[in-house]
This record gives sequence, C-alpha cells and structure tokens, in this order.
Amino acid sequence: MIFAAILAGGVGSRMSISDVPKQFLPLSKKPIVIHTIEKFMMCERFDAIYIGMHPDWISYMEDLLEKFSLKDKRIHVAAGGTDRNSTLFNVIKEIENDYEEAEDNIIVTHDAVRPFITQRIINENIDTAEKYGACNTVVSAIDTIVSSKTGEFIDEIPDRRYMYQGQTPQSFKISLLKRLYNDLTKEEKLILTDACKICIVRDTPVKLVQGETSNLKITTVSDYKIAQAMLGGIEID
Ligand code: CTP
Repeated sequence: MIFAAILAGGVGSRMSISDVPKQFLPLSKKPIVIHTIEKFMMCERFDAIYIGMHPDWISYMEDLLEKFSLKDKRIHVAAGGTDRNSTLFNVIKEIENDYEEAEDNIIVTHDAVRPFITQRIINENIDTAEKYGACNTVVSAIDTIVSSKTGEFIDEIPDRRYMYQGQTPQSFKISLLKRLYNDLTKEEKLILTDACKICIVRDTPVKLVQGETSNLKITTVSDYKIAQAMLGGIEID
C-alpha cells in the first residue's frame, strides 16, 4: 500500500506575521495546507493521506477539510509530535492502527508548507521508494555552499558540483524506516531531525529524486511573498 504523510505539526515560529501556524496562511483564497493536500489527492496511487497536525489545531484542520470539500475516506488527521520526526512516527503509528503492516508499504512524507509539489515529483518518489527503499527530493545547489563550525571563519568550501539542497518529499519503505529508527539511541533521535539522516547514519542508501526550484518551502515572510507572486497575488475573501 502507498501512504502520504503531510507534516503540519509545526507552529511556524519564523513566520512573524500571523497568530495561526504558517500552514494556514492564505494563498490565492485557500490555506497553504489545503493546496498541498489537493496535490496529494490528485494522485490516485495513494491508499490514504495522513495529515500530521499540531494537536492544538486538529479541529481547525477538520473544519477546513469540511469547508474545502475535502472530507474524503482517504484523508485522516493525526496528532503531530514535538519535532518533525515525532510527527512522522505518530503518523506511522496511526497508519499501523488503521491498516495491516506489510514489508513493502511505502510512505511519501512531505512538508505541508511546500504547496507547489508536482505530480511528477510525487510519482517519482513512489517509484524510487519502491525500487530503492529510501529517497530524497533534491535540487542542485545554486549558491556556493560554505561550511563554518564557528560561524566566524570558513572551514571548507565543498565543490558545488556535488552539492544539493534537500527538499521534500522524502519517501521510504515504512518497514525499513522503522527498523532504522528503532535502532537509534535516545540522543541520536534528538539530533536526527531529518528522516533521510536516519538512513545515512546507518549506512543505508538514499536515492536522489530531481526536485524543482518551484517546490519552495514557505518558512519566512519573504518566502510567503514569493509564493503569493507565484500564484499571481493574494486574494482573501
Ligand atoms: N513540522 C511537523 N512537526 C513538528 C515541527 C514541524 O510536522 N513538530 C512540519 C512543519 O509543520 C512544516 C515542516 O515540518 O510543514 C517543515 O518544518 P518548518 O518549516 O521548520 O516548520 P515549523 O516548525 O512550523 O517552522 P519554525 O521552525 O519556523 O517554527
């Protein structure tokens, strides 16, 4: 079976303009998270789509699903956790409550705040996770990457030809991801905020899927302005 986990458990602390978490900000008449859910609903390969929502905002989310006619038997809302991976593993727990476990079950995990995901990226994630077990959507680094442990002086300037920027989706065989996660120490679980890093620290290959620069993550006010411009301006009812 194929599942989607739309991760929306954060509060958007770097988006300073709103009292609601950034995934609820409007983009061309619809909240950001609704655009994202609609993109996943368009893909018929998903057996179920889970939204990992901050516990304080679950009923708000349910109301939005109603308002935008997205009450569908494929959609489930689950409680998010204190960090991104705990939101993801809460969703996995819900999936396992609702469906039978199978070695080849796939999960496509995606940031709720990346509403410009394309069907090509979703389909390539599913195909690649089925073939390789784990994959990460990336784009080639545009800027030169500079690393500095002190934040004051450069340690290293890696060759840009080998540098990529990580996006989402990140997709996995659920059984593989769970095995690797359960093998981590408590300390590792705290540090490893990225799901693909769980694979990397346990020497498990993660295949790259070509992303798009338009698959923007809305983190700051300037990202929000770019997202509005991409849709031709803001219109609020
Ligand atoms: N996320 C999540 N559960 C958490 C924290 C984050 O599901 N406990 C989700 C966010 O809702 C978002 C995605 O992970 O869709 C990417 O995280 P980020 O952009 O950092 O979102 P926030 O944590 O909301 O933002 P900030 O760090 O500015 O507070």
